[in-house]
Formats: sequence, structure tokens, C-alpha cells
Amino acid sequence: MITEIRKIDQNQIDWEAMSWAGEIIRQGGLVAFPTETVYGLGADARNASAAKKIYEAKGRPSDNPLIVHIAEYQSLSEVAKEVTREARLLAETFWPGPLTLIVKKNDTVPYETTGGLDTVAVRMPDHPIALELIRQGGGFIAAPSANTSGKPSPTRAEHVASDLNGKIPLILDGGPVGVGIESTIVDLTGACPMILRPGYITREMLSEVIGDVKADPALAAGSVGKPRAPGMKYRHYAPKAELVLVDGESERVVDKINELADAAIAEGLKVGIIGTDETILRYCRGEVVSIGTRREEDGIAQNLYGVLRELDDRKVDKIYSECFSDLRIGQAVMNRLLKAAAFRVIQV
Ligand code: TXA
Ligand code: MG
Repeated sequence: MITEIRKIDQNQIDWEAMSWAGEIIRQGGLVAFPTETVYGLGADARNASAAKKIYEAKGRPSDNPLIVHIAEYQSLSEVAKEVTREARLLAETFWPGPLTLIVKKNDTVPYETTGGLDTVAVRMPDHPIALELIRQGGGFIAAPSANTSGKPSPTRAEHVASDLNGKIPLILDGGPVGVGIESTIVDLTGACPMILRPGYITREMLSEVIGDVKADPALAAGSVGKPRAPGMKYRHYAPKAELVLVDGESERVVDKINELADAAIAEGLKVGIIGTDETILRYCRGEVVSIGTRREEDGIAQNLYGVLRELDDRKVDKIYSECFSDLRIGQAVMNRLLKAAAFRVIQV
């Protein structure tokens, strides 16, 4: 299959391209598209065989459910068994935006979309191209991140192309995304709302709207519990190289990373280092990349996956990275980094 990549200016949408994209979706095909978080790989959420194609293209395990993307508030009630007070409040406050709600599903949503579950994940993305594709495609688009399963999520159309070229007919290229890490997922089907995946919308922000919100205990560093979002159990977000995180006071972290890099280089390994604008000049050896400045933490989330992919492209064997737990968005960033590093952290 030939994959066409169409550049779309989000301020001046190409209607001809969007109606073609919508047609592909309505006929049961796949289209990759930008959202504000990461690029998604879309199919008609109410068409079981279309949803199945997503699993094939990504090489994704079929028990890992998909998020249904909608463009109108009322669409939530068309896939949910009931819209609870909490669901309505969170949707009104954070949609369109990087928040996914898990609710009980009704019969219109096939089990192929929900990985066999009786619940469904729903989100309204905050991106004009995504919203237009959803409208043109019939109102309900199932979309995981548009990467090959296990690779870092795509934050640019080039990342999608490098993973899915030849496997899907169309990639809508809307340029680099804004947030850079996937949406926060909140499960509203239990006794207390629970965060299954941290993201840009934090627990504090959710609590301000609906009161008590818990975090899935399996998310805690070092936990051996089974995560409630099936996708969170897979080794994920991972670069090809072995990633090791170094945590502690900044000066000591820099010294330790230099020491580790020296040792690895002496063993003949090619080493990558993830630093920040504040520390970058202090690393003299290896392939050094900055993830941004600690003074603009949104930029760090935005660059995370791109930096991991860049070091993969440079074919390094080992990556040493600084940690970011002190940032507001740090919990979400560290959740991704820790998984990419298979929880290898050195404290200094
Ligand atoms: O920001 C995002 O959410 C992006 C963009 C494209 O919207 N999408 C995304 O999808 O990250 P994906 O498939 O890569 O991650 C979806 C996560 C998986 O961990 C999956 O297991 C979980 O959501 N999930 C989906 N439906 C669920 C359900 N009914 N119950 C529990 N977890 C669910
Ligand atoms: Mg994903």
C-alpha cells in the first residue's frame, strides 16, 4: 500500500483532503491524524472490522482497548450506558482537551474497539484537524497513538511515517503536536474516580472539579501490581537503546552521568545523554541532546518522545537521562520515562 502524506494547515483547513480522509474512515479504512497530545491512528469506532485493522497495523495486542474520539458533547451519551454527574462535569470543564473518561459502554460500541471490556474510553481532542476528521468520518473515531506498538508515541507526522509507511493509506500532517504526551485517563466506573494514566490534566485539577480522585496504585514507582488500563502493563514508550535515569541534586546528577558515560564509552558502547538547556554544556562525551529548559516545563513534555526517537536514529546503545519529578507535569513525564527505562533509576 502506498501511504500518502498530506500537509494540512490547521488555520486554513484543506476541505478536499479532509473529505477524502473522512471517506476513508467511513469505508472502514485507517487515517493517521494529529491531536493536541500525540498523533492518533484512526478508524470508525463502531465498525468492528475497521477497529481490527488498527491492531494489525500497529502490531498491538488485541486485549488492549482503544480510545473513542468524539467531536460533540452529546456523542458521549451515544456510546455510554449512562452519563454520570462526574462524567458531565469533567467533560464540560476539560473538553476539548487531553482528558480521557472511562465509562460503561452501550451496545453501539463493538468489543473489538474496547478489547472485550464492558467499558469504553472517550475523549474530545482539542485540535481542529482531529475534530474535522471525526465529523467527516461519522462522529466516532477509535484511535490509539499512531506508533508501532512498543515504540515512543509519535509527536510529528515524520514519526508516524517512519513506523507505519506502507501500512495505511493516509497521514494528515498537521505539524508538531502541542502537549507531547498522551491524555490523562480517568476511570469513572468504580466507587471513586481513579487515574489510570497520568497526563497534562493533573489529579489536583480533576479534584477541584469532582472532589476525591485516586491514582491507580499500580502506577507507583516500583509497584508490581497489575495496572487497570490494559495498555499500561506493556513495556512501552521504549527506545531501542537501554535507558537509565539518574535522579538527585543537579550537580551530582551531571557528574554521575558523565562518569557512567565514560565507563560505557570505554567498553566500546555508543552513548546518548538527555540533558536540559541548563546542563547541556556540562556533558562533553557521547550524543548529547537537550530536552528543553526546566523553566518551560511544557516544552519538556513536548520534546520527550522526539528526543527518544532521535537517539534511536543515532543508533546509540545506552542512554543516560536526567529526571523531572519536580515539575508540575513531572508525574506524567516520569511515568513515561520510568517505563521506557524499565524502572532503572540510579539515585545520587
Ligand atoms: O492522548 C491520547 O490519549 C492518544 C491520542 C491519539 O488521543 N491516544 C492514546 O491511545 O494514547 P493509546 O491506545 O495509545 O492508549 C490508550 C490507553 C491504553 O493504555 C488502554 O489500555 C487504555 O487507554 N484504555 C482504553 N480503553 C480502556 C478501558 N475501557 N478501560 C481501561 N483502560 C482503557
Ligand atoms: Mg499508545
